[in-house]
Amino acid sequence: MSYSSIPTRGRTLDYAAGVYDILEPWVMFGFQEKINRQVIDHLEIEPDHRILDVGCGTGVVTRMISEKLSPEKGGVAIGIDAAGKMIQGAVEKRQGPACTFRTAAAEALPFENDSFDSVVSTLFFHHIQMDLKIRAFAEAFRVLKPGGRLVISDMHVPETFLGALIAHASRWLLFQPQIGENIRGVLPDLIQEAGFTYPRLVKTYLGYITLFVSKKPVGLTS
Ligand SMILES: C[S@@+](CC[C@H](N)C(=O)[O-])C[C@H]1O[C@@H](n2cnc3c(N)ncnc32)[C@H](O)[C@@H]1O
Repeated sequence: MSYSSIPTRGRTLDYAAGVYDILEPWVMFGFQEKINRQVIDHLEIEPDHRILDVGCGTGVVTRMISEKLSPEKGGVAIGIDAAGKMIQGAVEKRQGPACTFRTAAAEALPFENDSFDSVVSTLFFHHIQMDLKIRAFAEAFRVLKPGGRLVISDMHVPETFLGALIAHASRWLLFQPQIGENIRGVLPDLIQEAGFTYPRLVKTYLGYITLFVSKKPVGLTS
C-alpha cells in the first residue's frame, strides 16, 4: 500500500525514506540507540499509555516505545509523519499490536484534545520553520492530557567545538535555516510559550543534540 504525503512547508524526507535506516546510525555516530533509550526512559511509560511520536520517520522510536505498552490495556504508540514514503516504511517494518502509523502534519494533528499521555519527538523540530514550530508545539499541547509529558530530543545551542562544527555545517550544507533557529536556542521558550512548563534540559549529546523534558500543567485542559 502507498501513502500520500501531507502538504507542509516542513522539510519532509520522502526522497530519503529508502536509505534512512541505513544512514541515520552513521549520521548519529552510533549514538542514535543510546539517545532513543534515554528519551524513552523520560517518558515514564505505563502499559496503558497512549503515546504520540511526532515526525516519526521510519518509526524506530515509536516501535521501541510500543514494546513497553500493553495493547490489551489500551496502550498504543502512534507515529505520524508528513512524508508518505516514511510512513510506508514504518508500516512495513514496524507496525504491531501496540504500534500504528499515519500520515499527518505536526502543525495540524488529526487527534482529539487531551487524548495522549505523552508526546515525544526526536530530530524533528529542526525540519520546520519558526511558525510551524509554534503551531506544532501548540498542537502537541492540545492533544496532551493535563499532567502529560513532552519529551523532545533535537538540535539546540552547541556546547562543544565539534558540536558547533556539525550543527553549523548541517545548516549551510543542507540549506536548512530551520536548523539555524534551533542552534540559536529557540526551543525552550517556544515550548513554554505553548503552555508547557519550562523544559528541563536533561543532557546534550554529541555537543549539539539536547534532550528536553516538559509537562502540560495539571488543571489545564485544551
Ligand atoms: C530527521 S527525521 C526524524 C525521524 C525520526 N523521528 C528519527 O528520530 O529518526 C524528520 C522527519 O520529519 C518529517 N517532517 C518534516 N516536516 C514535517 C511536518 N510538518 N509534519 C510531520 N512530519 C514532518 C520528515 O518527513 C522526517 O521524516
